[in-house]
Amino acid sequence: MHQDIEEILISEEELQTKITALGEQITHDYAGKNLLLLGTLKGAVPFIADLARAINLPLELDYMAVASYGNSTQSSGIVRIVKDLEGPIDQKHVLVIEDIIDSGLTLHYLIDLLRRRNPLSLKICSLLNKERTRLKDVPIDYHGFTIPDKFVVGYGLDYAQLYRNLPYIGILKPSVYSETAQPEKQHKSMAEEA
Ligand code: PRP
Ligand code: MN
Ligand code: MG
Repeated sequence: MHQDIEEILISEEELQTKITALGEQITHDYAGKNLLLLGTLKGAVPFIADLARAINLPLELDYMAVASYGNSTQSSGIVRIVKDLEGPIDQKHVLVIEDIIDSGLTLHYLIDLLRRRNPLSLKICSLLNKERTRLKDVPIDYHGFTIPDKFVVGYGLDYAQLYRNLPYIGILKPSVYSETAQPEKQHKSMAEEA
């Protein structure tokens, strides 16, 4: 285990078992449909890579990168598109792939924007669903695990851009982030509530 990790919350094996099951369910639900898996950069990359290979259907992959305006103490809920899709989605069934839903702000904004492009259907698949009060409610159609309101990293999730390559989801030792600045995401909820 990595020295900065307090506890492994979801092991590599548990992740892969769940992703296989999600893949089977999506394979069943999207048979015969023009499926586009839309991954959000950067966090969802390991998840979308494994999930796509667990889906036994023809599908397209594309990515969007978004960034929140504001700083760690104030979230405006306004999201800026850093990288957009390469083509129209009005002939596609879009399944947005996220690593985690925390405050809900990112996906709320993204779903709003995508809906205006008139996809044939629009659904959300998030590996993790953090148990906390959302700032924006987001309908989750597929999800892997509900997790407690702790700062987690690994399998795509970062703290200060690190730890994305861990093969498991782990709880970061508080000493790692209390020594430096407050984490920008996840912990913004603590700042908001203060
Ligand atoms: C993280 C995570 C989700 C989002 C969830 O991304 O990957 O996309 O925050 O938080 P929310 O529900 O409170 O909006 P981040 O903006 O840190 O970018 P990254 O994926 O590049 O790490
Ligand atoms: Mn992200
Ligand atoms: Mg991040």
